[in-house]
Amino acid sequence: MCGIIGFCRWDGGEPALAPEPNCPLLGQMFRSATTMAPESHLEAHGAADAVARVMEGLHHLEYRGYDSAGIAVPHNGVLMVRKDVGHINEVDTQQNLSAMTGDIAIGHTRWATHGGVTQANAHPHTDASGRVAVVHNGILENYLVLRRELLAQGILFRSETDTEVIPHLIALELQNGHPCLEDAVRAVCAQFEGSYAFVAMHAGEQGKMVGVRLDNPLVVGYAEDGAYLASDVLAFSPHATRMAQVGDGEIAVITQEGVRFIDAEGCEVQRKTVPMDCKWADTALNGFAHYMQQEILAQPAALELCSMREHKELIDAAFAILGARQVVFTACGTSRHAALIGRYLFSKVAHKFSDVLMGSEFGYFAPALGTDTVVIAVSQSGETADVVEGVKLAKQAGARVVSVVNRPSCLLADMGDYVLRLKCGAEVGVAATKTFMCQLAVFHMLAHAMANRVDEGRVELSHAGELLYKMLHGLNYSLERLAFSLKDSGHFYYIGRGINFATAMEGALKMKEISYIHAEGMPAGELKHGTLALIEQGTPVVAVCPNDETYADTMNNVMEARARGGYIIGISDVPSDSFDYSIPIPVVSPLLYPLLSVAPLQLLAYHMSVLRGCNPDMPRNLAKSVTVR
Ligand code: G6P
Repeated sequence: MCGIIGFCRWDGGEPALAPEPNCPLLGQMFRSATTMAPESHLEAHGAADAVARVMEGLHHLEYRGYDSAGIAVPHNGVLMVRKDVGHINEVDTQQNLSAMTGDIAIGHTRWATHGGVTQANAHPHTDASGRVAVVHNGILENYLVLRRELLAQGILFRSETDTEVIPHLIALELQNGHPCLEDAVRAVCAQFEGSYAFVAMHAGEQGKMVGVRLDNPLVVGYAEDGAYLASDVLAFSPHATRMAQVGDGEIAVITQEGVRFIDAEGCEVQRKTVPMDCKWADTALNGFAHYMQQEILAQPAALELCSMREHKELIDAAFAILGARQVVFTACGTSRHAALIGRYLFSKVAHKFSDVLMGSEFGYFAPALGTDTVVIAVSQSGETADVVEGVKLAKQAGARVVSVVNRPSCLLADMGDYVLRLKCGAEVGVAATKTFMCQLAVFHMLAHAMANRVDEGRVELSHAGELLYKMLHGLNYSLERLAFSLKDSGHFYYIGRGINFATAMEGALKMKEISYIHAEGMPAGELKHGTLALIEQGTPVVAVCPNDETYADTMNNVMEARARGGYIIGISDVPSDSFDYSIPIPVVSPLLYPLLSVAPLQLLAYHMSVLRGCNPDMPRNLAKSVTVR
């Protein structure tokens, strides 16, 4: 997590790039723009201020962390750094970031790992002379050893972060004779253990920034007036027309002369640029109060889109799964809840058994994986470190990988033998909603492809989208009132059975992550094995009990909770006197109930968050993309 960004302005228009084998026209176009009319080109596009671009980018990257922020620019032969605790707007107010200017700048928005949320721990970090500055994402696992060595050489540290070793080490390498920043970066990377992406600047090399990555995302954006290095294309999507991935272990060097890539041995590497998918990255609020609200209401249309997905990609993945001896989903958070539902769909529709392992626990099962395993990696960001690590181990064991991701370009898409994309556009709210819905839709289609019934799956999904649309608009106001009546509750319990138990888990996760109320989700049958002791007069118990094979048993558990004073909120297509509050959902085929019953739970959590004065889009202590283990 953490968002890193750098922007380097090309004053004379786009500089010449070495023609790429896959993109000869781009190189040609850039050369003629520079050689034919540099001034008029500059006038036509205006000279962007690098700080303004970096600040704009940091706003788009705040989903990756927002506990502190900072920017560095070259100034009078050293690097000027301004940073502080808070969201980027707050840091701007405290430190007047907007008053900084420059042709080149780097910036950071932080999610703390090593060291508390303090100004000293905020990025950028510099060496003692203030001539090398670094913004970093990831964890240097051997930083304590490196720090001790640097301390022994008399170097003083100003922060508790793992990051600070990087500028000190780069400065030492430059002092020790490395002729340029990229060489020094190469030398320090050889000393690191862990996974990271960082961008560095050196006051002695005007107009240059260098970025490197290992198992963490870093992309280059090509705009008409400059180039970016950032954690995510969202940082530069309003300006860039093309982008390129920095390869694992590679270094990108951006100067006024253009963009170069080198590998760990210092050899030049050709990198493919691809056009930006700006439609995907359209993240306007469009009149909604919050992204989460917008994203919840976008779900019916997203389901409709999912129902139209290509036959071939589904069939290819379906064959691989059917042919495997063991099928294992790996995912974290909301994506894991989707996988738990996917598991039921595979079993019910295609009679294929599978298991679900948490990303963070997956590695401990690696010895049991082999060439007859298919791993289904589920991650909206496609970069969750725990999932990426597991997939690496699986690939080493010879397993094949089906990646279910939302981001157009991401680590897990690159690692997948089969890639199924959610295609629902960027999700900005930290709490996943529409990506969860689309993950369910993909599993619905995939399970039907495995049973050779794709068309049936399509019709069902499209129908569910229509019902969801009507239901969401009908329920919004009543859920807001329900939230108002429950907003001071201290605990919530969510129960469900079979395919509905993961819906209960997801409802509880939504409630706790954005409203900060303790909430637990569990299989309804487990309630009596401990948690029932916590039910008191008025404790809210949300029961997901549609009229399917689970109904009768779940209602028994509802009665047990009710007998202890629980306030029962029932989500069902069957009205019941046993519910203190009823959230009605339409009657559908049993396998579609999760799609319909999760949406009211998302809306309930949303209203609860707003009524309690929280920001549902940026819950405290969390980040949307978790690239540390
Ligand atoms: C973080 C987010 C969750 C998300 C989880 C997995 O914890 O806060 O909302 O479900 O990561 O993310 P992924 O991108 O792998 O789906």
